[in-house]
Amino acid sequence: MAQLLVVEDQPALRQTMTIALSRAGHAVEGVGSGEEALARTQETLYDLVITDLRLGEVDGLEVLKGVKARDADTEVVVATAYGSIDSAVEAIRAGAFDYVTKPFTPDQLLHVVDRALERRRLKTEVRYLNRRLEDPNDPPELVGESERFQRVLGIVREWASSDSTILVTGETGTGKDLVARMIQRLSPRADEVFVVVNCATIPSALFESELFGHMKGAFSGATRNRKGLAQEADGGTLFLDEVGELPMAVQPQLLRFLETGEIRPIGQNRSVTVDTRVIAATNRDLRAMISEGTFREDLYYRLNVLPLDLPPLRQRVEDIVPLATRFLTRFARRLGRQAESFSQEAQEVLTAYGWPGNVRELENVVERAVMLARGAVIHPEHLFMPDAERPDLGQGGGEGGVGDLISLAELERRQILAILKRVSGNQKKAASVLDISKSTLWRKLKEYGIDAASFAK
Ligand SMILES: Nc1ncnc2c1ncn2[C@@H]1O[C@H](COP(=O)(O)OP(=O)(O)O)[C@@H](O)[C@H]1O
Ligand SMILES: [Mg+2]
Repeated sequence: MAQLLVVEDQPALRQTMTIALSRAGHAVEGVGSGEEALARTQETLYDLVITDLRLGEVDGLEVLKGVKARDADTEVVVATAYGSIDSAVEAIRAGAFDYVTKPFTPDQLLHVVDRALERRRLKTEVRYLNRRLEDPNDPPELVGESERFQRVLGIVREWASSDSTILVTGETGTGKDLVARMIQRLSPRADEVFVVVNCATIPSALFESELFGHMKGAFSGATRNRKGLAQEADGGTLFLDEVGELPMAVQPQLLRFLETGEIRPIGQNRSVTVDTRVIAATNRDLRAMISEGTFREDLYYRLNVLPLDLPPLRQRVEDIVPLATRFLTRFARRLGRQAESFSQEAQEVLTAYGWPGNVRELENVVERAVMLARGAVIHPEHLFMPDAERPDLGQGGGEGGVGDLISLAELERRQILAILKRVSGNQKKAASVLDISKSTLWRKLKEYGIDAASFAK
Protein backbone atom coordinates (compact mmCIF):
# COMPACT_ATOMS: atom_id res chain seq x y z
CA MET A 1 0.00 0.00 0.00
CA ALA A 2 1.45 3.33 -1.03
CA GLN A 3 1.64 6.23 1.42
CA LEU A 4 0.13 9.39 -0.06
CA LEU A 5 -0.16 12.94 1.17
CA VAL A 6 -2.70 15.35 -0.29
CA VAL A 7 -2.01 19.08 0.22
CA GLU A 8 -5.03 21.16 -0.72
CA ASP A 9 -6.43 24.22 1.03
CA GLN A 10 -10.01 23.81 -0.16
CA PRO A 11 -11.56 21.37 2.34
CA ALA A 12 -14.19 19.99 -0.03
CA LEU A 13 -11.75 19.23 -2.79
CA ARG A 14 -9.28 17.80 -0.31
CA GLN A 15 -11.92 15.42 0.94
CA THR A 16 -12.95 14.32 -2.54
CA MET A 17 -9.36 13.61 -3.43
CA THR A 18 -8.65 11.70 -0.24
CA ILE A 19 -11.73 9.55 -0.70
CA ALA A 20 -10.97 8.77 -4.35
CA LEU A 21 -7.42 7.80 -3.56
CA SER A 22 -8.36 5.70 -0.51
CA ARG A 23 -10.89 3.80 -2.61
CA ALA A 24 -8.12 3.06 -5.07
CA GLY A 25 -6.35 1.27 -2.25
CA HIS A 26 -3.84 3.83 -1.03
CA ALA A 27 -3.12 5.05 2.48
CA VAL A 28 -3.96 8.73 2.24
CA GLU A 29 -3.54 11.67 4.55
CA GLY A 30 -4.75 15.17 3.78
CA VAL A 31 -3.52 18.55 5.02
CA GLY A 32 -4.69 22.09 4.29
CA SER A 33 -1.47 24.11 4.22
CA GLY A 34 2.11 24.05 3.09
CA GLU A 35 3.34 24.43 6.66
CA GLU A 36 1.46 21.33 7.76
CA ALA A 37 2.68 19.45 4.72
CA LEU A 38 6.31 20.20 5.50
CA ALA A 39 5.81 19.18 9.12
CA ARG A 40 4.24 15.87 8.07
CA THR A 41 6.96 15.05 5.62
CA GLN A 42 9.50 15.40 8.42
CA GLU A 43 7.74 12.59 10.27
CA THR A 44 6.55 10.25 7.55
CA LEU A 45 8.20 9.04 4.38
CA TYR A 46 5.57 9.31 1.67
CA ASP A 47 5.70 7.59 -1.69
CA LEU A 48 3.82 10.40 -3.29
CA VAL A 49 2.76 13.93 -2.39
CA ILE A 50 0.03 15.63 -4.39
CA THR A 51 0.09 19.34 -3.74
CA ASP A 52 -1.82 22.34 -4.92
CA LEU A 53 0.60 24.96 -6.22
CA ARG A 54 -1.28 27.94 -4.89
CA LEU A 55 -1.47 27.66 -1.12
CA GLY A 56 -1.02 30.17 1.65
CA GLU A 57 2.32 31.44 2.87
CA VAL A 58 4.22 28.26 2.02
CA ASP A 59 3.25 27.45 -1.55
CA GLY A 60 3.28 24.20 -3.50
CA LEU A 61 6.71 24.84 -4.93
CA GLU A 62 8.18 25.10 -1.47
CA VAL A 63 6.38 21.93 -0.43
CA LEU A 64 7.88 20.26 -3.47
CA LYS A 65 11.38 21.42 -2.63
CA GLY A 66 11.00 20.42 1.00
CA VAL A 67 9.77 16.96 0.06
CA LYS A 68 12.57 16.45 -2.43
CA ALA A 69 15.18 17.67 0.02
CA ARG A 70 13.93 15.17 2.58
CA ASP A 71 13.77 12.25 0.17
CA ALA A 72 14.42 12.66 -3.53
CA ASP A 73 12.60 9.40 -4.22
CA THR A 74 9.25 10.73 -3.05
CA GLU A 75 7.31 11.63 -6.15
CA VAL A 76 5.40 14.90 -6.28
CA VAL A 77 2.44 15.76 -8.47
CA VAL A 78 1.28 19.37 -8.53
CA ALA A 79 -2.22 20.67 -9.17
CA THR A 80 -2.36 23.93 -11.06
CA ALA A 81 -5.05 26.36 -11.96
CA TYR A 82 -6.09 26.41 -15.59
CA GLY A 83 -3.78 28.64 -17.59
CA SER A 84 -0.79 28.63 -15.26
CA ILE A 85 1.37 26.39 -17.39
CA ASP A 86 4.49 28.31 -16.46
CA SER A 87 4.26 27.38 -12.83
CA ALA A 88 3.65 23.75 -13.81
CA VAL A 89 6.79 23.80 -15.91
CA GLU A 90 8.72 25.39 -13.09
CA ALA A 91 7.51 22.66 -10.75
CA ILE A 92 8.55 19.93 -13.16
CA ARG A 93 11.94 21.50 -13.50
CA ALA A 94 12.20 21.52 -9.72
CA GLY A 95 11.54 17.80 -9.70
CA ALA A 96 7.77 17.27 -9.80
CA PHE A 97 6.76 14.14 -11.69
CA ASP A 98 3.81 15.75 -13.44
CA TYR A 99 0.93 18.14 -13.01
CA VAL A 100 -2.85 18.00 -13.19
CA THR A 101 -4.86 20.99 -14.27
CA LYS A 102 -7.78 22.03 -12.12
CA PRO A 103 -10.57 21.13 -12.32
CA PHE A 104 -9.73 17.45 -12.73
CA THR A 105 -11.85 14.33 -12.52
CA PRO A 106 -11.09 11.51 -10.06
CA ASP A 107 -10.04 9.39 -13.03
CA GLN A 108 -7.51 11.95 -14.17
CA LEU A 109 -6.14 12.11 -10.66
CA LEU A 110 -5.91 8.34 -10.32
CA HIS A 111 -4.24 8.06 -13.67
CA VAL A 112 -1.43 10.46 -12.85
CA VAL A 113 -1.06 8.92 -9.39
CA ASP A 114 -0.66 5.45 -10.91
CA ARG A 115 2.00 6.67 -13.27
CA ALA A 116 3.85 8.49 -10.52
CA LEU A 117 3.85 5.41 -8.29
CA GLU A 118 4.99 3.22 -11.15
CA ARG A 119 7.79 5.63 -11.73
CA ARG A 120 8.80 5.52 -8.11
CA ARG A 121 8.91 1.73 -8.21
CA LEU A 122 11.05 1.71 -11.33
CA LYS A 123 13.35 4.33 -9.92
CA THR A 124 14.14 2.22 -6.92
CA GLU A 125 14.69 -0.82 -9.12
CA VAL A 126 17.01 0.74 -11.61
CA ARG A 127 18.90 2.96 -9.23
CA TYR A 128 21.77 0.56 -9.02
CA LEU A 129 22.19 0.43 -12.77
CA ASN A 130 21.77 4.14 -13.18
CA ARG A 131 24.49 4.84 -10.74
CA ARG A 132 26.93 2.87 -12.80
CA LEU A 133 26.02 3.97 -16.28
CA GLU A 134 24.90 7.40 -17.30
CA ASP A 135 22.45 6.44 -20.00
CA PRO A 136 23.54 3.31 -21.80
CA ASN A 137 20.78 3.55 -24.40
CA ASP A 138 21.70 7.01 -25.41
CA PRO A 139 25.38 7.84 -25.53
CA PRO A 140 26.07 11.39 -26.65
CA GLU A 141 26.15 11.60 -30.37
CA LEU A 142 26.57 14.35 -32.91
CA VAL A 143 23.38 14.62 -34.91
CA GLY A 144 23.18 16.51 -38.18
CA GLU A 145 22.47 15.72 -41.80
CA SER A 146 23.24 19.00 -43.50
CA GLU A 147 26.22 19.17 -45.75
CA ARG A 148 27.83 21.78 -43.52
CA PHE A 149 27.49 19.61 -40.49
CA GLN A 150 28.70 16.51 -42.31
CA ARG A 151 31.79 18.48 -43.19
CA VAL A 152 32.30 19.26 -39.50
CA LEU A 153 31.96 15.57 -38.68
CA GLY A 154 34.55 14.71 -41.31
CA ILE A 155 36.98 17.17 -39.76
CA VAL A 156 36.29 15.88 -36.26
CA ARG A 157 37.16 12.33 -37.33
CA GLU A 158 40.21 13.41 -39.20
CA TRP A 159 41.67 15.66 -36.53
CA ALA A 160 40.88 13.38 -33.63
CA SER A 161 43.90 11.23 -34.34
CA SER A 162 46.39 14.08 -34.27
CA ASP A 163 47.81 15.68 -31.15
CA SER A 164 47.61 19.24 -32.44
CA THR A 165 45.73 21.95 -30.64
CA ILE A 166 42.24 22.58 -31.94
CA LEU A 167 40.31 25.83 -31.56
CA VAL A 168 36.57 25.25 -31.76
CA THR A 169 34.59 28.43 -32.47
CA GLY A 170 30.91 29.07 -32.86
CA GLU A 171 28.00 30.90 -31.29
CA THR A 172 26.73 29.80 -27.95
CA GLY A 173 24.86 26.49 -28.08
CA THR A 174 26.31 25.33 -31.38
CA GLY A 175 27.87 22.24 -29.80
CA LYS A 176 31.45 23.27 -29.03
CA ASP A 177 31.53 21.29 -25.81
CA LEU A 178 30.05 18.22 -27.39
CA VAL A 179 32.42 18.41 -30.33
CA ALA A 180 35.42 18.66 -28.00
CA ARG A 181 34.27 15.53 -26.18
CA MET A 182 33.70 13.69 -29.44
CA ILE A 183 37.22 14.53 -30.57
CA GLN A 184 38.55 13.09 -27.35
CA ARG A 185 36.41 9.94 -27.68
CA LEU A 186 37.59 9.32 -31.22
CA SER A 187 41.21 10.04 -30.35
CA PRO A 188 43.93 7.61 -29.25
CA ARG A 189 43.51 9.26 -25.83
CA ALA A 190 39.89 8.09 -25.55
CA ASP A 191 40.53 6.06 -22.41
CA GLU A 192 42.49 8.82 -20.73
CA VAL A 193 41.15 11.79 -18.77
CA PHE A 194 39.24 14.70 -20.24
CA VAL A 195 39.82 17.69 -17.99
CA VAL A 196 37.66 20.77 -18.41
CA VAL A 197 38.90 24.24 -17.50
CA ASN A 198 36.21 26.87 -17.74
CA CYS A 199 38.23 30.01 -18.29
CA ALA A 200 35.18 32.20 -17.61
CA THR A 201 34.77 31.02 -14.04
CA ILE A 202 38.31 30.86 -12.69
CA PRO A 203 39.24 34.10 -10.93
CA SER A 204 42.31 35.67 -12.41
CA ALA A 205 44.23 35.47 -9.15
CA LEU A 206 43.69 31.74 -8.89
CA PHE A 207 44.30 30.85 -12.51
CA GLU A 208 47.95 29.94 -12.18
CA SER A 209 47.42 27.78 -9.15
CA GLU A 210 44.32 26.09 -10.62
CA LEU A 211 46.02 25.30 -13.87
CA PHE A 212 49.55 24.54 -12.77
CA GLY A 213 49.16 23.69 -9.09
CA HIS A 214 51.06 24.82 -6.04
CA MET A 215 53.21 23.52 -3.23
CA LYS A 216 52.24 23.64 0.39
CA GLY A 217 53.13 27.01 1.84
CA ALA A 218 53.65 28.69 -1.54
CA PHE A 219 51.21 31.40 -0.51
CA SER A 220 48.95 31.99 2.43
CA GLY A 221 46.06 29.57 2.12
CA ALA A 222 48.13 26.91 0.36
CA THR A 223 47.84 24.38 3.14
CA ARG A 224 48.89 21.41 1.05
CA ASN A 225 50.35 20.50 -2.30
CA ARG A 226 47.89 20.69 -5.08
CA LYS A 227 48.15 19.32 -8.57
CA GLY A 228 47.07 21.71 -11.30
CA LEU A 229 44.47 20.84 -13.91
CA ALA A 230 47.08 20.82 -16.69
CA GLN A 231 48.93 18.13 -14.82
CA GLU A 232 45.74 16.20 -14.05
CA ALA A 233 45.25 16.06 -17.79
CA ASP A 234 48.63 14.43 -18.33
CA GLY A 235 48.22 11.68 -20.91
CA GLY A 236 44.74 12.90 -21.78
CA THR A 237 42.98 15.98 -23.08
CA LEU A 238 42.74 19.45 -21.58
CA PHE A 239 39.64 21.34 -22.67
CA LEU A 240 39.98 25.12 -22.29
CA ASP A 241 36.37 26.22 -22.53
CA GLU A 242 35.44 29.90 -23.06
CA VAL A 243 39.07 30.69 -23.69
CA GLY A 244 38.09 34.15 -24.94
CA GLU A 245 37.21 35.08 -21.35
CA LEU A 246 40.77 34.58 -20.19
CA PRO A 247 42.03 37.80 -18.59
CA MET A 248 45.03 39.44 -20.27
CA ALA A 249 47.02 39.09 -17.07
CA VAL A 250 47.08 35.30 -17.19
CA GLN A 251 47.33 34.82 -20.93
CA PRO A 252 51.15 34.74 -20.87
CA GLN A 253 51.05 31.85 -18.41
CA LEU A 254 48.89 29.81 -20.72
CA LEU A 255 51.00 30.76 -23.71
CA ARG A 256 54.15 29.57 -21.99
CA PHE A 257 52.56 26.23 -21.23
CA LEU A 258 51.38 25.77 -24.80
CA GLU A 259 54.82 26.63 -26.14
CA THR A 260 56.83 24.40 -23.87
CA GLY A 261 54.43 21.73 -22.66
CA GLU A 262 55.92 22.41 -19.25
CA ILE A 263 54.31 23.47 -16.04
CA ARG A 264 55.76 24.69 -12.81
CA PRO A 265 53.56 24.51 -9.74
CA ILE A 266 53.77 27.71 -7.68
CA GLY A 267 56.48 27.32 -5.08
CA GLN A 268 58.30 24.55 -6.89
CA ASN A 269 61.53 25.46 -8.62
CA ARG A 270 61.52 22.61 -11.09
CA SER A 271 59.31 22.33 -14.17
CA VAL A 272 57.42 19.20 -15.13
CA THR A 273 56.73 18.17 -18.69
CA VAL A 274 53.22 16.99 -19.31
CA ASP A 275 51.72 15.26 -22.30
CA THR A 276 48.30 16.77 -22.88
CA ARG A 277 46.29 17.41 -25.97
CA VAL A 278 44.69 20.84 -25.83
CA ILE A 279 41.27 21.70 -27.25
CA ALA A 280 40.04 25.25 -26.75
CA ALA A 281 36.62 26.71 -27.42
CA THR A 282 35.13 30.17 -27.59
CA ASN A 283 32.10 32.04 -28.86
CA ARG A 284 34.09 35.27 -28.99
CA ASP A 285 35.67 36.73 -32.07
CA LEU A 286 39.29 36.42 -31.02
CA ARG A 287 40.57 38.38 -34.00
CA ALA A 288 38.42 41.32 -33.02
CA MET A 289 39.69 40.96 -29.47
CA ILE A 290 43.25 41.08 -30.76
CA SER A 291 42.61 44.41 -32.47
CA GLU A 292 40.93 45.69 -29.32
CA GLY A 293 43.96 44.61 -27.35
CA THR A 294 42.11 42.14 -25.13
CA PHE A 295 43.55 38.93 -26.53
CA ARG A 296 47.19 38.19 -27.25
CA GLU A 297 47.96 37.53 -30.87
CA ASP A 298 50.72 35.02 -30.09
CA LEU A 299 48.37 33.05 -27.87
CA TYR A 300 45.77 33.07 -30.62
CA TYR A 301 48.18 31.50 -33.08
CA ARG A 302 49.18 28.88 -30.53
CA LEU A 303 45.55 27.92 -30.02
CA ASN A 304 44.38 28.23 -33.58
CA VAL A 305 46.56 25.46 -35.03
CA LEU A 306 43.51 23.59 -36.31
CA PRO A 307 40.50 25.93 -36.52
CA LEU A 308 37.07 24.31 -36.40
CA ASP A 309 34.12 26.66 -36.82
CA LEU A 310 30.66 25.34 -35.96
CA PRO A 311 27.91 26.88 -38.09
CA PRO A 312 24.89 28.36 -36.31
CA LEU A 313 21.73 26.30 -36.54
CA ARG A 314 19.94 28.83 -38.76
CA GLN A 315 22.56 28.14 -41.42
CA ARG A 316 21.84 24.42 -41.42
CA VAL A 317 18.09 24.29 -41.29
CA GLU A 318 17.99 20.64 -42.42
CA ASP A 319 19.48 19.68 -39.05
CA ILE A 320 16.64 21.14 -36.99
CA VAL A 321 14.09 18.34 -37.27
CA PRO A 322 16.60 15.46 -36.89
CA LEU A 323 18.05 17.15 -33.80
CA ALA A 324 14.62 17.87 -32.36
CA THR A 325 13.60 14.26 -32.92
CA ARG A 326 16.67 12.99 -31.14
CA PHE A 327 15.94 15.24 -28.17
CA LEU A 328 12.29 14.21 -28.21
CA THR A 329 13.20 10.54 -27.86
CA ARG A 330 15.71 11.25 -25.15
CA PHE A 331 13.43 13.43 -23.02
CA ALA A 332 10.40 11.19 -23.50
CA ARG A 333 12.37 8.31 -22.06
CA ARG A 334 13.97 10.34 -19.32
CA LEU A 335 10.70 11.95 -18.22
CA GLY A 336 8.58 8.86 -18.78
CA ARG A 337 6.37 10.55 -21.40
CA GLN A 338 4.72 9.10 -24.45
CA ALA A 339 5.63 11.80 -26.96
CA GLU A 340 6.91 10.16 -30.13
CA SER A 341 6.89 12.66 -32.95
CA PHE A 342 6.22 16.20 -34.13
CA SER A 343 3.21 17.08 -36.23
CA GLN A 344 3.87 18.52 -39.65
CA GLU A 345 2.91 21.99 -38.38
CA ALA A 346 5.21 21.66 -35.40
CA GLN A 347 8.06 20.75 -37.71
CA GLU A 348 7.32 23.82 -39.76
CA VAL A 349 7.33 26.07 -36.70
CA LEU A 350 10.65 24.60 -35.57
CA THR A 351 12.16 25.03 -39.00
CA ALA A 352 10.97 28.60 -39.47
CA TYR A 353 12.52 29.89 -36.26
CA GLY A 354 15.96 31.51 -36.23
CA TRP A 355 17.35 29.78 -33.08
CA PRO A 356 19.62 32.51 -31.70
CA GLY A 357 20.48 30.10 -28.88
CA ASN A 358 21.21 27.35 -31.40
CA VAL A 359 21.07 23.67 -30.46
CA ARG A 360 20.87 24.38 -26.74
CA GLU A 361 17.76 26.50 -27.25
CA LEU A 362 16.23 23.81 -29.42
CA GLU A 363 16.97 21.23 -26.76
CA ASN A 364 15.23 23.36 -24.11
CA VAL A 365 12.19 23.98 -26.29
CA VAL A 366 11.83 20.26 -26.98
CA GLU A 367 12.24 19.39 -23.31
CA ARG A 368 9.45 21.76 -22.44
CA ALA A 369 7.25 20.43 -25.22
CA VAL A 370 7.74 16.86 -24.02
CA MET A 371 6.73 17.94 -20.52
CA LEU A 372 3.60 19.67 -21.77
CA ALA A 373 2.39 17.31 -24.47
CA ARG A 374 -0.11 14.72 -23.40
CA GLY A 375 -0.30 12.47 -26.43
CA ALA A 376 2.16 10.88 -28.81
CA VAL A 377 2.33 13.88 -31.11
CA ILE A 378 3.79 17.28 -30.34
CA HIS A 379 1.83 20.18 -31.81
CA PRO A 380 2.77 23.84 -32.28
CA GLU A 381 0.96 24.84 -29.08
CA HIS A 382 3.50 22.80 -27.10
CA LEU A 383 6.39 24.75 -28.55
CA PHE A 384 7.26 27.85 -26.61
CA MET A 385 9.86 29.99 -28.23
CA PRO A 386 9.99 33.30 -26.43
CA ASP A 387 11.02 35.29 -29.44
CA ALA A 388 9.49 33.04 -32.02
CA GLU A 389 8.95 34.38 -35.51
CA ARG A 390 11.29 37.25 -35.03
CA PRO A 391 12.81 37.62 -38.44
CA ASP A 392 16.45 36.79 -38.62
CA LEU A 393 18.30 40.05 -38.85
CA GLY A 394 21.43 38.44 -40.12
CA GLN A 395 23.39 38.93 -36.91
CA GLY A 396 26.55 36.92 -36.59
CA GLY A 397 26.86 36.28 -40.29
CA GLY A 398 29.99 38.37 -40.43
CA GLU A 399 28.49 41.04 -42.66
CA GLY A 400 29.86 44.45 -41.88
CA GLY A 401 27.35 46.60 -43.76
CA VAL A 402 23.82 47.53 -42.85
CA GLY A 403 22.29 46.84 -46.25
CA ASP A 404 20.36 43.82 -45.00
CA LEU A 405 19.01 45.51 -41.89
CA ILE A 406 15.37 46.53 -41.76
CA SER A 407 13.39 49.35 -40.23
CA LEU A 408 11.47 49.09 -36.98
CA ALA A 409 8.20 49.34 -38.90
CA GLU A 410 9.21 46.50 -41.18
CA LEU A 411 10.18 44.44 -38.15
CA GLU A 412 6.78 45.14 -36.66
CA ARG A 413 5.02 44.24 -39.89
CA ARG A 414 6.86 40.93 -40.14
CA GLN A 415 6.19 40.15 -36.51
CA ILE A 416 2.47 40.75 -36.98
CA LEU A 417 2.43 38.58 -40.10
CA ALA A 418 4.26 35.79 -38.32
CA ILE A 419 1.93 35.83 -35.34
CA LEU A 420 -1.16 35.91 -37.53
CA LYS A 421 0.14 32.87 -39.33
CA ARG A 422 0.67 31.07 -36.04
CA VAL A 423 -2.83 31.84 -34.73
CA SER A 424 -4.53 31.29 -38.11
CA GLY A 425 -5.67 34.88 -38.37
CA ASN A 426 -7.43 34.98 -35.00
CA GLN A 427 -7.14 38.68 -34.13
CA LYS A 428 -7.99 38.29 -30.50
CA LYS A 429 -5.23 35.75 -30.00
CA ALA A 430 -2.80 37.76 -32.08
CA ALA A 431 -3.43 40.90 -30.01
CA SER A 432 -2.95 38.95 -26.83
CA VAL A 433 0.34 37.41 -28.00
CA LEU A 434 1.58 40.81 -29.16
CA ASP A 435 0.36 42.28 -25.89
CA ILE A 436 -1.50 45.13 -27.55
CA SER A 437 -5.19 45.96 -27.60
CA LYS A 438 -7.45 44.66 -30.35
CA SER A 439 -8.03 48.19 -31.63
CA THR A 440 -4.29 48.86 -31.84
CA LEU A 441 -3.89 45.66 -33.80
CA TRP A 442 -6.72 46.64 -36.07
CA ARG A 443 -5.09 50.03 -36.73
CA LYS A 444 -1.76 48.42 -37.53
CA LEU A 445 -3.36 45.90 -39.88
CA LYS A 446 -4.86 48.79 -41.78
CA GLU A 447 -1.60 50.70 -41.74
CA TYR A 448 0.36 47.77 -43.17
CA GLY A 449 -2.43 46.62 -45.45
CA ILE A 450 -2.60 43.19 -43.87
CA ASP A 451 -5.72 41.09 -44.32
CA ALA A 452 -6.01 38.97 -41.20
CA ALA A 453 -8.82 36.89 -42.68
CA SER A 454 -6.45 35.53 -45.31
CA PHE A 455 -4.65 33.62 -42.54
CA ALA A 456 -7.73 31.69 -41.48
CA LYS A 457 -7.40 28.00 -42.13
N1 LIG B 1 25.12 18.17 -33.34
C1 LIG B 1 24.57 17.92 -32.15
N2 LIG B 1 23.95 16.73 -31.94
C2 LIG B 1 23.37 16.47 -30.75
N3 LIG B 1 23.36 17.31 -29.71
C3 LIG B 1 23.96 18.50 -29.86
C4 LIG B 1 24.60 18.86 -31.09
N4 LIG B 1 25.13 20.09 -30.94
C5 LIG B 1 24.82 20.49 -29.70
N5 LIG B 1 24.13 19.54 -29.02
C6 LIG B 1 23.60 19.65 -27.67
O1 LIG B 1 23.21 20.99 -27.47
C7 LIG B 1 23.58 21.47 -26.19
C8 LIG B 1 24.53 22.63 -26.31
O2 LIG B 1 25.76 22.19 -26.85
P1 LIG B 1 27.16 22.64 -26.24
O3 LIG B 1 28.19 21.74 -26.78
O4 LIG B 1 27.08 22.78 -24.76
O5 LIG B 1 27.25 24.09 -26.92
P2 LIG B 1 28.34 25.24 -26.75
O6 LIG B 1 29.47 24.68 -25.93
O7 LIG B 1 28.73 25.56 -28.15
O8 LIG B 1 27.63 26.39 -26.11
C9 LIG B 1 24.22 20.29 -25.48
O9 LIG B 1 23.24 19.65 -24.68
C10 LIG B 1 24.65 19.38 -26.61
O10 LIG B 1 24.66 18.04 -26.20
MG1 LIG C 1 30.05 25.47 -24.05
